[in-house]
Amino acid sequence: MRGHAVSFKDDPFHSDDALVDIEDALIVCEGGIITAFGPYEETKDAVPPGVEIVHRPGSVLCPGFIDTHVHYVQTGIIGAFGSQLIDWLNHYTFIEEQRFADADHAAEVARVYFDELLRNGTTTALTFCAVYPESVDAFFEESQRRGTRMIGGKVLMDRNAPDALLDTAQTGYDDSKALIERWHGNGRQLYAVTPRFAPTSTPEQLEAASALWHEHPGTFQHTHVSENVGEIQWVRSLFPERSGYLDVYDHYGLLGRRSVLAHGVHLTAAERRRVSETGTAIAHCPTSNLFLGSGLFHVHEAKDSRHPMHVGLGTDVGAGTSFSILATMNEAYKVAELLSYPLNSLKSFYLATLGGARALDLDDKIGSLEVGKEADFLVLDPAATPLLAFRTSTVESTEELLFVLSIMSDDRTVAATYVGGTLVHERKES
Ligand code: GUN
Ligand code: ZN
Repeated sequence: MRGHAVSFKDDPFHSDDALVDIEDALIVCEGGIITAFGPYEETKDAVPPGVEIVHRPGSVLCPGFIDTHVHYVQTGIIGAFGSQLIDWLNHYTFIEEQRFADADHAAEVARVYFDELLRNGTTTALTFCAVYPESVDAFFEESQRRGTRMIGGKVLMDRNAPDALLDTAQTGYDDSKALIERWHGNGRQLYAVTPRFAPTSTPEQLEAASALWHEHPGTFQHTHVSENVGEIQWVRSLFPERSGYLDVYDHYGLLGRRSVLAHGVHLTAAERRRVSETGTAIAHCPTSNLFLGSGLFHVHEAKDSRHPMHVGLGTDVGAGTSFSILATMNEAYKVAELLSYPLNSLKSFYLATLGGARALDLDDKIGSLEVGKEADFLVLDPAATPLLAFRTSTVESTEELLFVLSIMSDDRTVAATYVGGTLVHERKES
């Protein structure tokens, strides 16, 4: 693949020399892995004889996007009117997720979900399934078919939800363990132990989740934290012996590398320091935080060099309003503007790629265009719409081009998606 390539070798929040920007680059891959990457003139000899080079002049080649928090079982309730978090869960989410007891329904939605991910350029997504093990099998089976590196898990809930959605500390443990044995490390699939959030798990279930996670090194821990003010009050009343919401997870040993907490909108300064020192990651989900009126995430505080957190971008569909990580960058910019912080395009593209990979502790495999990494990459089209073509024709730098793309894009900007070096999505010309 030949074209203008953009990638990261470092974190632009902390380095002025983080961007890899090659006007005329070549990506060579074999067996799903990048085997050569660099300026075309210096790299072209790495192409074996007889291999045809796909040339995309005028496009931008970049690593596949990483969605660090999304619910595939909420694809059917995206855009549900009128309520904040707890009412939204009760009125829409807990109804919809009951449909995933039916394996056929789960398989059908998994197909729609992967179509949406790939048409939007998302090649890895840390995904909530439903409480039913069948919903997890449907997710991983579809991922195996597409060849994607995905992370997912069965939701654990043993209180404060409809009976049909509840497991117990023991059945949740047993079902998750069987799923870990079936799926973790099976091809490109990885498992996340997934307690929904503190209010829907008893102390016994949080203990069981922690035991599962620690008994299976390399698995993930995935939950929600401090999204909504009412939710935080509820956690305080359920766990009065703990000093705050984050401390609930801390107490049960649920923080650390490969622990990913969605939102963290209302974390206190002390909680942010604790997230940082434990290596825990936060998924910043701006479209969701705006849609549910949850609040504004302080990305600049999260990335403060004195106690930086690992941060990735999450769509959080169905509370999030788009599967597009580009559209998510657009909203992240506006959220940061409301907090008087100009989030530049290098930072937002970093969060969407290498930053997300680092948040997931997968940066040895994905997140950048680099020899040895898995060949998940995108062809972005700066002329995807008439207005984009008009606007990008006058940009004067790569940073400006990326900014315009991040503000004006949706799935149309993704001209093609490659997974493991194989074309898995190509935009149809309208
Ligand atoms: N907190 C607990 N469950 C959920 C969920 O499904 N979506 C969001 N946005 N927050 C949650
Ligand atoms: Zn969520």
